[in-house]
Amino acid sequence: MTMTPLTSATAWQALTAHAETMAGTTIRALFDADPQRAGSFAAEGAGWYLDYAKQRVTAQTLELLCQLADERDLAGRREAMFAGQHINVTEDRAVLHTALRLPPGSSLVVDGVDVAADVHDVIARMGAFAEQVRGRTWLGFTGRPIRNIVNIGIGGSDLGPVMAYLALRHVSDRELVFRFVSNVDGTDFVEATRDLDPAETLFLVASKTFTTQETMTNARTARDWLVAGLGGDAAAVARHFVAISTNAEKVAAFGIDTANMFGFWDWVGGRYSMSSAIGLSTMLAIGPQRFAELLAGMHAMDTHFRTAPWRENLPALHGLLCVWNRNFLGATDQVVLPYDQYLLRFPAYLQQMIMESNGKRVTAAGEPVHWETSASFWGEPGTNGQHSFYQMLHQGTTIVPADFIFFARPVNDVGDHHDLLIANCLAQAGVMAFGRTAEEVAADGTPADLVEHKVMPGNRPNSTLVAETLTPFALGALVALYEHSTFVQGMIWDLNPYDQWGVQLGKLVADSIAPMLTGAAEPALDSSTNALIARYRAARGR
Ligand code: F6P
Repeated sequence: MTMTPLTSATAWQALTAHAETMAGTTIRALFDADPQRAGSFAAEGAGWYLDYAKQRVTAQTLELLCQLADERDLAGRREAMFAGQHINVTEDRAVLHTALRLPPGSSLVVDGVDVAADVHDVIARMGAFAEQVRGRTWLGFTGRPIRNIVNIGIGGSDLGPVMAYLALRHVSDRELVFRFVSNVDGTDFVEATRDLDPAETLFLVASKTFTTQETMTNARTARDWLVAGLGGDAAAVARHFVAISTNAEKVAAFGIDTANMFGFWDWVGGRYSMSSAIGLSTMLAIGPQRFAELLAGMHAMDTHFRTAPWRENLPALHGLLCVWNRNFLGATDQVVLPYDQYLLRFPAYLQQMIMESNGKRVTAAGEPVHWETSASFWGEPGTNGQHSFYQMLHQGTTIVPADFIFFARPVNDVGDHHDLLIANCLAQAGVMAFGRTAEEVAADGTPADLVEHKVMPGNRPNSTLVAETLTPFALGALVALYEHSTFVQGMIWDLNPYDQWGVQLGKLVADSIAPMLTGAAEPALDSSTNALIARYRAARGR
């Protein structure tokens, strides 16, 4: 299907004109005009309820956004992804994280291979391994069972595993200790292992490429730490190291027996890999059965995304609202505010997923874009964020749309905590949307000189996502919702969300700078960097 440039699309132009007519409309006015609008601007799927009535949208906005989706062939592109076409054009790869959670017994033949069968082979091997570790029958080199599991990885090989472990701690084996090492800063490794006994420690080296500098540096340090701690015999590595990678050759070259390797495929992007073998730490923590529930939640959202009409489709609505806020209402940022302490690292996880995917300046065809692409995504769990950056969200000069997330039933039902937590969530969403006028502030008896200070402009668009309770299924569905929202945004913007060329140059330059820091080469860069290198070397006596 040949496409007109995005900004020439009929729906894009109609949305531009529509946004102008909406400029003076407030969320408050939208509710005044239709007090029951909550019923019209909500959708449900895979166990999640999305309320977007507090977005700055009308029925016409939605109609035009859905028209935009149709004009940009979102349905065709969605099918291309699910079918395994090589939509990652710059790397000539399929994008098939959805195949990682196909139910057992499924078949999906892509490029002549039944990828679903391969996926289930690996899941079965992971399951058998997890049962041994969890059953304490996988013994370390000295014959003691494993009690500590350290995942070494970075980016997609870390953020998903950390996020999922923290989110699902309540259903994990609490006798096992989980640590995550990502940063090349030696502190990360030292602090993660300082109280661990090597005889009871298993390292999972998670790296799609098995070449990433940070991960390989940490993996080598881990190997030295382990071998030194177990009397210097390198044979210990076989019982204490497992690799998760697509690169068997590099795994073997590192010294890990490929019998202890869990594979995945080049059609799994790093930031979409937590449902692949990269999720081994999650499976070790919660067990194969609950890991299967996580995958089932993802699959439920995949199916919902694939089949629901746009107006009932959570990922499509979410993604289209992101486009509306970014391109037509001018939002540069978006916050994600989980009102659940277990989702502590969910915003960090989303940052990579969304910003590494859609932080692009050229289309998939390599043409410069003439429209804004990804917003910055950030956030913290409520209520902590309320006592930190919410002041700016409420009264700052930049409007930052928000996603609120909560679960109706708490995992830890302690006193009245949960009612207070959710009261705060609903209060913040309402205040952001409706604010408080000068008249309302004055009517409270506020001294005249303080009235302006206390005015809350409101009109901050926000959505709320609600599920019944935090289970592996609910978490899986939530992750898949954001994965597909990211896809929707990327497709509307004509991007390839599945490459990340922007992170390569910094890696290469770092490789060239390292010898200048040690003294093996002389600084030969710009004067600013040369001066910083000189300072560093002086401090280190080089
Ligand atoms: O940051 C770049 C990146 O390639 C990410 O996309 C990826 O998740 C991360 O590095 C880690 O890569 P690997 O799993 O190959 O070590």
